[in-house]
Amino acid sequence: MKIKNLIIVDHPLAKRDLTILRDKNTTPLEFRNAIKRISSVLITAVTKNFELKEIKVQTPLEKTTGYKLNHEVVIVPILRAGLTLVDPFLEMIPDASVGHIGLYRDEETLKPVDYYLKLPKNIKRAKVLIIDPMLATGGSATAAITFLKERGAKDITLVCLVAAPEGVTKVYSEHKDVKIYSIALDRTLNDRGYILPGLGDAGDRTFGTF
Ligand code: PRP
Ligand code: URA
Repeated sequence: MKIKNLIIVDHPLAKRDLTILRDKNTTPLEFRNAIKRISSVLITAVTKNFELKEIKVQTPLEKTTGYKLNHEVVIVPILRAGLTLVDPFLEMIPDASVGHIGLYRDEETLKPVDYYLKLPKNIKRAKVLIIDPMLATGGSATAAITFLKERGAKDITLVCLVAAPEGVTKVYSEHKDVKIYSIALDRTLNDRGYILPGLGDAGDRTFGTF
């Protein structure tokens, strides 16, 4: 399947860590650590085309040209599972602001239910990175993108670890301007909306709520 807005981040370290994430015997601590490591590979890919602004910098020896990011960046984790990605993103983009969107999937309908929203004021002019490990039906991601657009966000990227074709197609059909970065595109969803082969429930595996 080739969808214009999907970018698969292919890297040996990411493949190794995704295997740890998929393994049902991985503990919550190992799971969180693997997410942190895999996030650094993702961030490098997501920020590859960020614009820079030239600045002057004085080294101990002389003046030279340096760079700073030419964008404000807002990171928006979808609670809960997106929270583990926040620290690694902030380590690489320390000036970023963080918004939060609380959404969970109703287990019967698989539709997203929203329970929290707090966004920084610069959302309208910033590059917005929505982070959530799982893109399954795409209900949560499309709802999050819609919330952000309603509040003025114009430049939105969705960053996940595992995507299902169904979710990628839904995001593309509703938000053609939004690029999706993922480590893997999996096969399909099961009848309960879980990604196959997937890695199970990312929130439960992150926080040990089995
Ligand atoms: C998971 C995941 C996504 C959503 C993806 O969250 O972190 O937000 O499911 O599924 P979708 O594409 O079908 O909407 P979940 O609803 O399990 O909430 P949690 O993180 O609080 O456990
Ligand atoms: N949410 C998850 O955490 N995992 C899935 O496979 C689907 C939705």
